[in-house]
Amino acid sequence: MSEQPAGKFASLWAATSASTRYDALDEVIDVDVAVIGGGIAGLTAALALKQAGQTVAVLEAARVGTGVTGNTTGKVTSLHRLAYTELAGRHGTEAAGLYGQANEAAIEHVAGTVGAERIDCGFRRVSNYTYAESEDALALVRKEAALAGRLGLPASFTTDVPLTFAVMGGVRFDNQAQIHALRYVQGLARAVDGDGSFVFEDSPATGFRDGTPAVVDTERGSVRAKEIIVATNMPFGDNGFFAERCYAHRSYIVAARSGAAPLDSTFVSVDEPMRSILTTDVDGVSYVLAGGEGHPASEQVDSAQRFGRLAAFARDRLGAGEIAFRWSTQDAMPADGLPYVGRLSPDFRHVHVITGLRKWGLTNGTAAALILRDLLCGRTNPWAALFDSTRAVRAQGAVQPKVTPPKAPAVPSGIAPGQGRVVDVEGAKTAVYVSPAGAVSAVSAVCTHLGCTVEFNAAEVTWDCPCHGSRFSTDGTVIQGPATRNLAASPAPADLS
Ligand SMILES: Cc1cc2nc3c(=O)[nH]c(=O)nc-3n(C[C@H](O)[C@H](O)[C@H](O)COP(=O)(O)OP(=O)(O)OC[C@H]3O[C@@H](n4cnc5c(N)ncnc54)[C@H](O)[C@@H]3O)c2cc1C
Ligand code: FES
Repeated sequence: MSEQPAGKFASLWAATSASTRYDALDEVIDVDVAVIGGGIAGLTAALALKQAGQTVAVLEAARVGTGVTGNTTGKVTSLHRLAYTELAGRHGTEAAGLYGQANEAAIEHVAGTVGAERIDCGFRRVSNYTYAESEDALALVRKEAALAGRLGLPASFTTDVPLTFAVMGGVRFDNQAQIHALRYVQGLARAVDGDGSFVFEDSPATGFRDGTPAVVDTERGSVRAKEIIVATNMPFGDNGFFAERCYAHRSYIVAARSGAAPLDSTFVSVDEPMRSILTTDVDGVSYVLAGGEGHPASEQVDSAQRFGRLAAFARDRLGAGEIAFRWSTQDAMPADGLPYVGRLSPDFRHVHVITGLRKWGLTNGTAAALILRDLLCGRTNPWAALFDSTRAVRAQGAVQPKVTPPKAPAVPSGIAPGQGRVVDVEGAKTAVYVSPAGAVSAVSAVCTHLGCTVEFNAAEVTWDCPCHGSRFSTDGTVIQGPATRNLAASPAPADLS
């Protein structure tokens, strides 16, 4: 295992935001719409519905914005690397054009909301580039620029890419934006709470039922509503088979303090290894962010090594100094490249879902929320059919985990301080962690989502599920779904305790 690179293990956004303190739900309440999940998708939907005259209640398992949204890069853009070439190839040019329109509308919605709600989230207009360093990549960006231009998007090809290192060219989208996404969604939550609408934190939904009313339960209360929105990133309960139609993809980000003022542009590379670049100013301090090193969450990797490669890139190519923050997060990638928005499955009448935001959820999640606002208010929406969540739903049946878990070793040998391993304790797969001080903690290694075996992530000191991306702390607490229940406490193996 590689040595940990420098930097606090926290996102820049979390480290520079005040924490929110909304009450937990501890009673039965009635509203028009219950929203499960306080990330950008859920909170945007909640505020848009409130503004359309509905009462809403948002149930957030932890604190608003602390999921993927609080660990994002912060680009608010309709240029998603080479998405138009990809989507036109898979779904046709018209579909690619609609995807672009939905994302452009999302940028303007974010801009309008920042202004109307006076959200102090560092919103800045920037250009966004997909850049090429090789001949092959150059041909791809030329093609993307030409296609996006034909689709009516603010696209152009250029050989003048304002990076700190020379590249061959890129596609540029003008009038894009960047934000401090955690402060943005905290601003949304402020605007949602009040006048008969609510934000509840520390209130994980434990289940929901369709019907009139539709009901969401938490451990200490319930919300009765006309409609429910499941906006938990990866849906839980999963009657729509999203665990099979999406997979979790993880990426890593490092942020270093910078002596230079932020650029008026953000960037992503075509060539591998993919690199995402953003510069920002938070409370008068300039930072440069480098992201990348992505992989399906089902792959076990040496994440310290990945942070190390990003830190080297930030230093060598972007002139960054010491890394101040490093973090990782994962998003739901849709099987066919388009987000899923609409009913949880054709069998549900009043339960709706947003997922599959393909690592571009600041705009895709905003667009998705506006689609649901329209659908729930009986309005037509030009993008609803393209993102329809019920497309190509597989035949009903039991959802099986996709990955066969490795067999736990029968006899645990010593585990070094700071390490964890799955071992067999009296026939039960047990996730055993030994802290740097030598304290042993043991929890069930069986993921509470659909039963895969969790694996130890040494760089981030978490138990990660390879199947659909749930993550747990070493005491078993859920950090990220789709799991909603903690790993059960287990007895530690005799020869370790
Ligand atoms: C490394 C990385 C960089 C990215 N950078 C960008 C970028 O620059 N631009 C961009 O557009 N997109 C980016 N994305 C994608 C974007 O950040 C996500 O698509 C978006 O934030 C997802 O929002 P969400 O609301 O779906 O999920 P989340 O923000 O995760 O919100 C879901 C919420 O639901 C809560 N929850 C879960 N289960 C329950 C339950 N049972 N009950 C109650 N609450 C529950 C969670 O606590 C969480 O707060 C990036 C993604 C990654 C992985
Ligand atoms: S996340 Fe689905 S089984 Fe663990």
